[in-house]
Amino acid sequence: MRWLVTGGAGFIGTNLVDFLLSAGDEVVVVDDLSREGVIGNKDFLEQRWSQPVVEVDVVDGNRLSEVFRKHKPFDAVAHLAGQVSLMASIQDPVRDFQVNALGTLNVLEAVREYAPEALVIGMSSNKVYGDLGHVQITEEARRYVAPAFPFGFDETQPLDFHGPYGCSKGAADQYLLDYHRIYDLNTVSLRQSSVYGPFQHPRSDQGWVGFLLAEAQAGRHIQLYGVGKQVRDLLNASDLAQLFRVMASKPEKVTGQAFNVGGGVANSLSILELFDWLEENAGLSVSYSPGDLRPSDQPIFVADRGLKALIS
Ligand SMILES: NC(=O)c1ccc[n+]([C@@H]2O[C@H](COP(=O)([O-])OP(=O)(O)OC[C@H]3O[C@@H](n4cnc5c(N)ncnc54)[C@H](O)[C@@H]3O)[C@@H](O)[C@H]2O)c1
Repeated sequence: MRWLVTGGAGFIGTNLVDFLLSAGDEVVVVDDLSREGVIGNKDFLEQRWSQPVVEVDVVDGNRLSEVFRKHKPFDAVAHLAGQVSLMASIQDPVRDFQVNALGTLNVLEAVREYAPEALVIGMSSNKVYGDLGHVQITEEARRYVAPAFPFGFDETQPLDFHGPYGCSKGAADQYLLDYHRIYDLNTVSLRQSSVYGPFQHPRSDQGWVGFLLAEAQAGRHIQLYGVGKQVRDLLNASDLAQLFRVMASKPEKVTGQAFNVGGGVANSLSILELFDWLEENAGLSVSYSPGDLRPSDQPIFVADRGLKALIS
Protein backbone atom coordinates (compact mmCIF):
# COMPACT_ATOMS: atom_id res chain seq x y z
CA MET A 1 0.00 0.00 0.00
CA ARG A 2 1.15 3.55 -0.71
CA TRP A 3 0.44 6.23 1.92
CA LEU A 4 0.77 9.96 2.40
CA VAL A 5 0.92 10.87 6.10
CA THR A 6 0.62 14.53 7.14
CA GLY A 7 1.96 15.31 10.60
CA GLY A 8 4.03 12.17 10.11
CA ALA A 9 6.85 13.33 12.42
CA GLY A 10 4.41 13.83 15.31
CA PHE A 11 3.61 11.39 18.08
CA ILE A 12 0.88 9.35 16.38
CA GLY A 13 2.49 9.96 12.99
CA THR A 14 5.88 8.49 13.92
CA ASN A 15 4.23 5.40 15.42
CA LEU A 16 2.09 5.04 12.29
CA VAL A 17 4.91 5.54 9.79
CA ASP A 18 7.15 3.12 11.72
CA PHE A 19 4.35 0.53 11.66
CA LEU A 20 3.54 1.01 7.97
CA LEU A 21 7.18 0.76 6.92
CA SER A 22 7.60 -2.41 9.06
CA ALA A 23 4.63 -3.87 7.17
CA GLY A 24 6.32 -3.16 3.82
CA ASP A 25 4.18 -0.17 2.81
CA GLU A 26 5.54 2.92 1.04
CA VAL A 27 5.06 6.26 2.77
CA VAL A 28 5.44 9.92 1.91
CA VAL A 29 5.74 11.91 5.14
CA VAL A 30 4.72 15.56 5.32
CA ASP A 31 5.27 17.73 8.42
CA ASP A 32 6.17 21.37 9.09
CA LEU A 33 8.16 20.24 12.18
CA SER A 34 6.51 22.96 14.27
CA ARG A 35 5.80 20.74 17.28
CA GLU A 36 8.51 20.96 19.90
CA GLY A 37 10.51 17.72 20.07
CA VAL A 38 9.53 16.25 16.71
CA ILE A 39 12.98 16.79 15.18
CA GLY A 40 13.99 13.72 17.22
CA ASN A 41 11.13 11.76 15.61
CA LYS A 42 12.26 12.94 12.16
CA ASP A 43 15.82 11.79 12.95
CA PHE A 44 14.44 8.40 14.07
CA LEU A 45 12.55 7.91 10.77
CA GLU A 46 15.58 8.95 8.75
CA GLN A 47 18.02 6.77 10.68
CA ARG A 48 15.87 3.66 11.04
CA TRP A 49 14.18 3.68 7.65
CA SER A 50 15.99 6.27 5.50
CA GLN A 51 12.53 7.84 5.41
CA PRO A 52 12.63 11.52 4.47
CA VAL A 53 10.20 14.09 5.87
CA VAL A 54 8.93 16.62 3.34
CA GLU A 55 8.74 19.95 5.16
CA VAL A 56 5.40 21.50 4.24
CA ASP A 57 2.83 23.56 6.15
CA VAL A 58 -0.64 22.16 5.34
CA VAL A 59 -1.97 25.73 5.45
CA ASP A 60 -0.07 26.33 2.20
CA GLY A 61 -2.47 24.62 -0.20
CA ASN A 62 -0.28 25.15 -3.27
CA ARG A 63 2.79 23.50 -1.75
CA LEU A 64 0.70 20.65 -0.37
CA SER A 65 -0.90 20.02 -3.78
CA GLU A 66 2.56 20.04 -5.33
CA VAL A 67 3.61 17.18 -2.99
CA PHE A 68 0.50 15.18 -3.97
CA ARG A 69 1.12 15.81 -7.67
CA LYS A 70 4.79 14.86 -7.45
CA HIS A 71 4.38 11.69 -5.37
CA LYS A 72 0.97 10.28 -6.45
CA PRO A 73 -0.69 7.78 -6.62
CA PHE A 74 -1.78 7.00 -3.03
CA ASP A 75 -4.02 4.25 -1.66
CA ALA A 76 -4.51 6.05 1.64
CA VAL A 77 -3.93 9.48 3.17
CA ALA A 78 -3.60 9.78 6.94
CA HIS A 79 -4.14 13.41 7.88
CA LEU A 80 -2.56 13.84 11.32
CA ALA A 81 -1.09 17.36 11.04
CA GLY A 82 -2.86 19.57 13.50
CA GLN A 83 -2.85 22.24 16.14
CA VAL A 84 -3.49 19.99 19.14
CA SER A 85 -3.98 22.22 22.17
CA LEU A 86 -7.21 23.79 23.44
CA MET A 87 -5.28 26.39 25.44
CA ALA A 88 -3.15 27.35 22.38
CA SER A 89 -6.35 27.63 20.33
CA ILE A 90 -7.73 30.13 22.84
CA GLN A 91 -4.53 32.17 22.61
CA ASP A 92 -4.43 32.16 18.79
CA PRO A 93 -7.78 31.10 17.30
CA VAL A 94 -6.86 32.26 13.79
CA ARG A 95 -3.80 30.02 13.50
CA ASP A 96 -5.78 27.19 15.09
CA PHE A 97 -8.47 27.61 12.41
CA GLN A 98 -5.89 27.80 9.63
CA VAL A 99 -4.09 24.63 10.65
CA ASN A 100 -7.05 22.45 11.63
CA ALA A 101 -9.90 23.62 9.40
CA LEU A 102 -8.17 25.13 6.35
CA GLY A 103 -5.37 22.55 6.53
CA THR A 104 -7.93 19.74 6.32
CA LEU A 105 -9.73 21.47 3.45
CA ASN A 106 -6.40 21.78 1.62
CA VAL A 107 -5.76 18.05 2.09
CA LEU A 108 -9.24 17.21 0.77
CA GLU A 109 -8.78 19.46 -2.26
CA ALA A 110 -5.40 17.88 -3.04
CA VAL A 111 -6.97 14.41 -2.71
CA ARG A 112 -9.85 15.46 -4.99
CA GLU A 113 -7.37 16.52 -7.64
CA TYR A 114 -4.58 13.95 -7.34
CA ALA A 115 -5.78 10.91 -5.34
CA PRO A 116 -9.58 10.65 -5.68
CA GLU A 117 -9.61 6.88 -5.02
CA ALA A 118 -7.58 7.07 -1.78
CA LEU A 119 -9.06 6.49 1.66
CA VAL A 120 -8.60 9.71 3.65
CA ILE A 121 -8.39 9.12 7.41
CA GLY A 122 -8.81 12.36 9.38
CA MET A 123 -8.04 12.82 13.08
CA SER A 124 -10.96 14.43 14.82
CA SER A 125 -11.55 14.55 18.55
CA ASN A 126 -14.01 13.64 21.28
CA LYS A 127 -14.11 17.43 21.81
CA VAL A 128 -16.64 17.67 18.95
CA TYR A 129 -19.22 16.62 21.57
CA GLY A 130 -18.56 19.71 23.73
CA ASP A 131 -18.61 19.27 27.50
CA LEU A 132 -21.39 16.62 27.34
CA GLY A 133 -23.33 18.89 29.68
CA HIS A 134 -26.59 17.00 29.03
CA VAL A 135 -25.13 13.76 30.44
CA GLN A 136 -25.87 12.99 34.06
CA ILE A 137 -22.62 12.54 35.96
CA THR A 138 -22.14 11.01 39.40
CA GLU A 139 -19.02 11.36 41.50
CA GLU A 140 -17.22 8.41 43.05
CA ALA A 141 -14.22 8.60 45.38
CA ARG A 142 -11.60 8.59 42.59
CA ARG A 143 -13.53 9.21 39.33
CA TYR A 144 -16.59 10.65 37.58
CA VAL A 145 -19.11 8.15 36.23
CA ALA A 146 -21.82 8.45 33.54
CA PRO A 147 -24.29 5.77 34.74
CA ALA A 148 -26.44 5.88 31.56
CA PHE A 149 -23.37 5.05 29.40
CA PRO A 150 -21.78 1.97 30.98
CA PHE A 151 -20.24 0.93 27.62
CA GLY A 152 -19.07 4.41 26.62
CA PHE A 153 -20.40 6.98 24.15
CA ASP A 154 -21.32 6.27 20.54
CA GLU A 155 -21.47 8.68 17.61
CA THR A 156 -25.13 9.65 18.17
CA GLN A 157 -24.08 12.15 20.85
CA PRO A 158 -25.06 15.64 19.67
CA LEU A 159 -22.28 17.65 18.08
CA ASP A 160 -21.55 20.71 20.19
CA PHE A 161 -18.32 22.50 19.28
CA HIS A 162 -16.78 24.32 22.27
CA GLY A 163 -13.71 26.54 22.17
CA PRO A 164 -11.68 27.39 19.06
CA TYR A 165 -10.07 23.91 19.05
CA GLY A 166 -13.49 22.24 19.22
CA CYS A 167 -14.73 24.48 16.39
CA SER A 168 -11.73 23.94 14.10
CA LYS A 169 -11.67 20.18 14.72
CA GLY A 170 -15.43 20.05 14.33
CA ALA A 171 -15.27 21.93 11.03
CA ALA A 172 -12.59 19.52 9.76
CA ASP A 173 -14.68 16.54 10.91
CA GLN A 174 -17.69 17.82 8.98
CA TYR A 175 -15.68 18.69 5.85
CA LEU A 176 -14.34 15.13 5.82
CA LEU A 177 -17.87 13.71 5.89
CA ASP A 178 -19.19 16.25 3.40
CA TYR A 179 -16.47 15.54 0.82
CA HIS A 180 -17.80 11.97 0.78
CA ARG A 181 -21.37 13.24 0.32
CA ILE A 182 -20.66 15.90 -2.30
CA TYR A 183 -17.54 14.66 -4.13
CA ASP A 184 -17.76 10.91 -3.40
CA LEU A 185 -14.30 10.84 -1.82
CA ASN A 186 -13.50 7.94 0.52
CA THR A 187 -13.22 9.75 3.82
CA VAL A 188 -13.43 8.72 7.46
CA SER A 189 -13.20 10.87 10.57
CA LEU A 190 -11.85 9.42 13.82
CA ARG A 191 -13.21 11.17 16.91
CA GLN A 192 -10.18 10.25 18.90
CA SER A 193 -9.90 9.99 22.66
CA SER A 194 -6.52 9.86 24.47
CA VAL A 195 -3.55 8.07 22.91
CA TYR A 196 -0.33 7.07 24.67
CA GLY A 197 2.98 5.54 23.61
CA PRO A 198 6.52 6.32 22.46
CA PHE A 199 7.57 9.39 20.43
CA GLN A 200 5.18 11.67 22.34
CA HIS A 201 6.33 15.08 23.57
CA PRO A 202 3.59 15.84 26.06
CA ARG A 203 2.64 19.22 27.49
CA SER A 204 0.41 20.19 30.39
CA ASP A 205 -2.68 20.39 28.18
CA GLN A 206 -1.98 17.61 25.68
CA GLY A 207 -0.75 14.08 26.28
CA TRP A 208 -1.91 13.98 29.89
CA VAL A 209 -0.60 10.53 30.88
CA GLY A 210 2.90 11.23 29.54
CA PHE A 211 2.95 14.72 31.03
CA LEU A 212 1.81 13.67 34.50
CA LEU A 213 4.18 10.70 34.51
CA ALA A 214 7.15 12.94 33.63
CA GLU A 215 6.18 15.48 36.30
CA ALA A 216 5.79 12.73 38.91
CA GLN A 217 9.15 11.19 37.98
CA ALA A 218 10.80 14.59 38.28
CA GLY A 219 9.24 15.02 41.73
CA ARG A 220 7.50 18.27 40.72
CA HIS A 221 4.29 19.48 42.37
CA ILE A 222 1.37 19.15 39.94
CA GLN A 223 -1.31 21.81 39.59
CA LEU A 224 -4.41 20.05 38.22
CA TYR A 225 -7.23 21.32 36.05
CA GLY A 226 -10.20 20.37 38.27
CA VAL A 227 -10.04 17.81 41.08
CA GLY A 228 -8.52 14.94 39.09
CA LYS A 229 -11.62 12.79 38.68
CA GLN A 230 -11.87 13.36 34.91
CA VAL A 231 -11.89 10.05 33.03
CA ARG A 232 -10.57 9.22 29.57
CA ASP A 233 -10.07 5.91 27.78
CA LEU A 234 -6.52 5.27 26.65
CA LEU A 235 -5.42 3.71 23.38
CA ASN A 236 -1.88 2.58 22.62
CA ALA A 237 -0.46 4.32 19.55
CA SER A 238 0.57 0.98 18.01
CA ASP A 239 -3.04 -0.27 18.24
CA LEU A 240 -4.16 2.94 16.53
CA ALA A 241 -1.57 2.37 13.79
CA GLN A 242 -2.98 -1.13 13.21
CA LEU A 243 -6.47 0.36 12.99
CA PHE A 244 -5.32 2.70 10.20
CA ARG A 245 -4.02 -0.23 8.16
CA VAL A 246 -7.15 -2.34 8.73
CA MET A 247 -9.32 0.57 7.61
CA ALA A 248 -7.23 1.08 4.48
CA SER A 249 -7.69 -2.60 3.64
CA LYS A 250 -11.48 -2.39 4.09
CA PRO A 251 -12.35 1.16 2.97
CA GLU A 252 -15.91 0.19 2.04
CA LYS A 253 -16.66 -0.52 5.72
CA VAL A 254 -15.72 2.93 6.96
CA THR A 255 -16.01 5.43 4.13
CA GLY A 256 -18.23 8.45 4.71
CA GLN A 257 -18.47 7.82 8.45
CA ALA A 258 -17.22 9.21 11.75
CA PHE A 259 -16.21 6.92 14.60
CA ASN A 260 -15.40 7.38 18.26
CA VAL A 261 -12.01 5.73 18.79
CA GLY A 262 -10.36 4.97 22.11
CA GLY A 263 -9.36 2.24 24.50
CA GLY A 264 -12.91 1.61 25.71
CA VAL A 265 -14.27 1.10 29.22
CA ALA A 266 -11.69 -1.53 30.17
CA ASN A 267 -8.88 0.94 29.48
CA SER A 268 -10.40 4.02 31.10
CA LEU A 269 -8.58 5.92 33.80
CA SER A 270 -8.99 9.07 35.89
CA ILE A 271 -6.10 11.33 36.87
CA LEU A 272 -6.42 10.26 40.52
CA GLU A 273 -6.44 6.59 39.46
CA LEU A 274 -3.25 7.23 37.47
CA PHE A 275 -1.65 8.68 40.62
CA ASP A 276 -2.81 5.61 42.60
CA TRP A 277 -1.31 3.34 39.95
CA LEU A 278 2.01 5.21 40.01
CA GLU A 279 2.15 4.94 43.78
CA GLU A 280 1.36 1.22 43.85
CA ASN A 281 3.44 0.15 40.85
CA ALA A 282 6.30 2.63 40.64
CA GLY A 283 6.57 3.82 44.23
CA LEU A 284 5.96 7.40 43.10
CA SER A 285 4.12 9.56 45.62
CA VAL A 286 2.58 12.37 43.59
CA SER A 287 2.25 15.85 45.08
CA TYR A 288 -0.69 17.73 43.55
CA SER A 289 -3.36 20.34 44.21
CA PRO A 290 -6.76 20.86 42.58
CA GLY A 291 -7.31 23.88 40.33
CA ASP A 292 -9.76 25.54 37.97
CA LEU A 293 -11.28 23.39 35.24
CA ARG A 294 -10.25 24.07 31.64
CA PRO A 295 -13.10 25.50 29.55
CA SER A 296 -15.30 22.77 28.03
CA ASP A 297 -13.54 19.92 29.82
CA GLN A 298 -15.62 16.74 29.69
CA PRO A 299 -15.90 15.06 33.11
CA ILE A 300 -15.78 11.70 31.35
CA PHE A 301 -15.28 10.48 27.81
CA VAL A 302 -15.00 6.82 26.88
CA ALA A 303 -15.46 5.59 23.29
CA ASP A 304 -17.82 2.68 22.76
CA ARG A 305 -16.75 -0.36 20.71
CA GLY A 306 -18.90 0.23 17.63
CA LEU A 307 -15.97 0.59 15.23
CA LYS A 308 -14.25 -2.56 16.53
CA ALA A 309 -17.45 -4.54 15.97
CA LEU A 310 -17.76 -3.12 12.45
CA ILE A 311 -14.29 -3.96 11.18
CA SER A 312 -13.46 -7.18 13.06
N1 LIG B 1 -2.64 12.35 20.89
C1 LIG B 1 -3.92 12.30 21.22
O1 LIG B 1 -4.27 11.78 22.30
C2 LIG B 1 -4.97 12.83 20.28
C3 LIG B 1 -6.31 12.82 20.68
C4 LIG B 1 -7.28 13.33 19.81
C5 LIG B 1 -6.93 13.80 18.56
N2 LIG B 1 -5.61 13.81 18.21
C6 LIG B 1 -5.26 14.35 16.88
O2 LIG B 1 -4.37 13.47 16.21
C7 LIG B 1 -3.48 14.21 15.40
C8 LIG B 1 -2.05 13.84 15.74
O3 LIG B 1 -1.85 14.12 17.12
P1 LIG B 1 -0.47 13.88 17.85
O4 LIG B 1 -0.77 13.56 19.26
O5 LIG B 1 0.39 12.98 17.06
O6 LIG B 1 0.12 15.37 17.84
P2 LIG B 1 1.60 15.89 17.51
O7 LIG B 1 1.61 17.34 17.84
O8 LIG B 1 2.63 15.02 18.12
O9 LIG B 1 1.67 15.69 15.92
C9 LIG B 1 1.15 16.64 15.02
C10 LIG B 1 2.22 16.88 13.96
O10 LIG B 1 1.71 17.81 13.03
C11 LIG B 1 2.72 18.74 12.72
N3 LIG B 1 2.06 19.98 12.32
C12 LIG B 1 1.45 20.90 13.11
N4 LIG B 1 0.98 21.89 12.37
C13 LIG B 1 1.30 21.60 11.07
C14 LIG B 1 1.09 22.26 9.83
N5 LIG B 1 0.47 23.45 9.77
N6 LIG B 1 1.53 21.67 8.69
C15 LIG B 1 2.18 20.47 8.74
N7 LIG B 1 2.42 19.81 9.89
C16 LIG B 1 1.98 20.37 11.04
C17 LIG B 1 3.55 18.89 13.98
O11 LIG B 1 4.87 19.35 13.73
C18 LIG B 1 3.52 17.47 14.53
O12 LIG B 1 4.62 16.73 14.06
C19 LIG B 1 -3.79 15.69 15.63
O13 LIG B 1 -4.64 16.14 14.61
C20 LIG B 1 -4.53 15.67 16.97
O14 LIG B 1 -5.43 16.75 17.11
C21 LIG B 1 -4.63 13.34 19.03
